[in-house]
Amino acid sequence: MTESIRPTHKSRVEIEREWDTIAPIRDTQISQGKDISFLKVLLPAIEKLTINSNFSHVLDVGCGVGFVAEAFSTKANYIVGVDISKRSIELAQKRLYGSRHAHFYCRSVEEFAQQTAPHSFSLAIANMTLMTALDLLSLLRSVARLLRAGAHFVFTIIHPCFWSSYWGYDAADWFHYNQEIVVEAPFKISFDAVDIVTTHVHRPLSQYFSSLIEVGFIIEAVLEPFPPPDTDPEYIRNWKQPRFLAIRCVRE
Ligand SMILES: C[S@@+](CC[C@H](N)C(=O)[O-])C[C@H]1O[C@@H](n2cnc3c(N)ncnc32)[C@H](O)[C@@H]1O
Repeated sequence: MTESIRPTHKSRVEIEREWDTIAPIRDTQISQGKDISFLKVLLPAIEKLTINSNFSHVLDVGCGVGFVAEAFSTKANYIVGVDISKRSIELAQKRLYGSRHAHFYCRSVEEFAQQTAPHSFSLAIANMTLMTALDLLSLLRSVARLLRAGAHFVFTIIHPCFWSSYWGYDAADWFHYNQEIVVEAPFKISFDAVDIVTTHVHRPLSQYFSSLIEVGFIIEAVLEPFPPPDTDPEYIRNWKQPRFLAIRCVRE
């Protein structure tokens, strides 16, 4: 286990600050094509799972600097991105400047759900957001409230069964698969590591599934996406197990 990875306690304000700090770096990494996981694995998985979704009113949950919203902006009639990081929202607004049907709000999805009419959205997408949320159930309840009956909720997360071994903390004394553990670690993607701390929450797979069911989602499709064969061999080399999960649910 790397010394710099450890269990911690975090407040929402601390999480906001972390994503504010990393926002310009994410902006550069993704625009320069350095985030292979995003470009070759996560985004294609979301595209596959939303092939039959209704793009009339789309919610991007934890939209970050706006790349997912941008990717779907031509398909969507109306798209809203929500994130607690002010800096991320500013960059997302800049990215989609001039697009009259894309709107970004700096607030938690829980706050947004309180301020918005229920059942306003036909599709919600959350790319790598759920494992950064400190309160999974409250986030899911808010997403469920915002979706119409029959709407899709498509999300990706770090794979709860394999991420700890991929990042090398599965053998740590403090790690127990069946517990919810807030983990602090330096942010890294395959081709770029930066000296900035971010936080993710390890949760057992069963917690994700039971929370989804509790708030009224039916799990419809599950992918464990791998990079396609034409991906940079250096990136594929250590991909022996899935790193991510991509799931489509339907709002009851
Ligand atoms: C790993 S980043 C992913 C960003 C973006 N979805 C992407 O694909 O690049 C997770 C994001 O979720 C946001 N986030 C965490 N909890 C949230 C909440 N309760 N409501 C809204 N945004 C949240 C963070 O601020 C962060 O920008």
